[in-house]
Amino acid sequence: MTDVKSIVLDAIECAEQARTYPVIRGQKYQHGFDCGTYIGKIIWCIANHPEIRTVVDFFANTGSGAILSIAHAQQESNNNKVAYSVERNTTLFTEIDKNLEGYKNVNILKGDIRQHASLIETLDIDLVTYDPDDDEIQQYLFELVKKCRPKIWIYHNINYSAWYANYLELISCTQYIEIGKGVSPELTFQEQNQEFSILVRSDLYTHS
Ligand SMILES: C[S@@+](CC[C@H](N)C(=O)[O-])C[C@H]1O[C@@H](n2cnc3c(N)ncnc32)[C@H](O)[C@@H]1O
Repeated sequence: MTDVKSIVLDAIECAEQARTYPVIRGQKYQHGFDCGTYIGKIIWCIANHPEIRTVVDFFANTGSGAILSIAHAQQESNNNKVAYSVERNTTLFTEIDKNLEGYKNVNILKGDIRQHASLIETLDIDLVTYDPDDDEIQQYLFELVKKCRPKIWIYHNINYSAWYANYLELISCTQYIEIGKGVSPELTFQEQNQEFSILVRSDLYTHS
């Protein structure tokens, strides 16, 4: 496989270029990683890379954010790719179906993540987008993703207390190396920009 670090660095450059991104056809989630945001564009560019085949998104919300960016990027890259996202809020399912209609590469796992963990654990995951919205699932999800060992892990909200301790653990452990951090000017919570981190598995990282 191409050096994973260079896939991420190329994606950061690719996110600066103009292109046609997917149209949101249903309800837009205002804190989502759609392609109108910086992080959404980076996710699109990573998911579009020929060697990034299996992507798992935590979680879907209305399906207008990260999972739509991933679905579109995968479809555009003409490769044998697959994406999964999970959502437990039943009131969002109609919007998810609307936003993702026609994307055959996408599997939406409806229900709580704990119901779907056994499937997720069988996957050889290239990219995870990590954006839980509450404390209650944080530790469980963190342990699950660590166990799955995704090659690239995009971790959102590193500058908020509920997410910070696990982020700190991740950057202090030997299994992941942080490639970059950033904010999407469009995304704020409690009047603060939401910061994200991009990490790659250290055994796939080439020092150069
Ligand atoms: C911040 S939103 C994710 C937005 C997404 N990153 C995007 O780009 O649109 C968090 C979502 O996680 C879902 N969620 C939280 N805990 C969950 C769980 N245990 N299982 C499944 N979904 C969960 C919530 O219902 C909510 O829709």
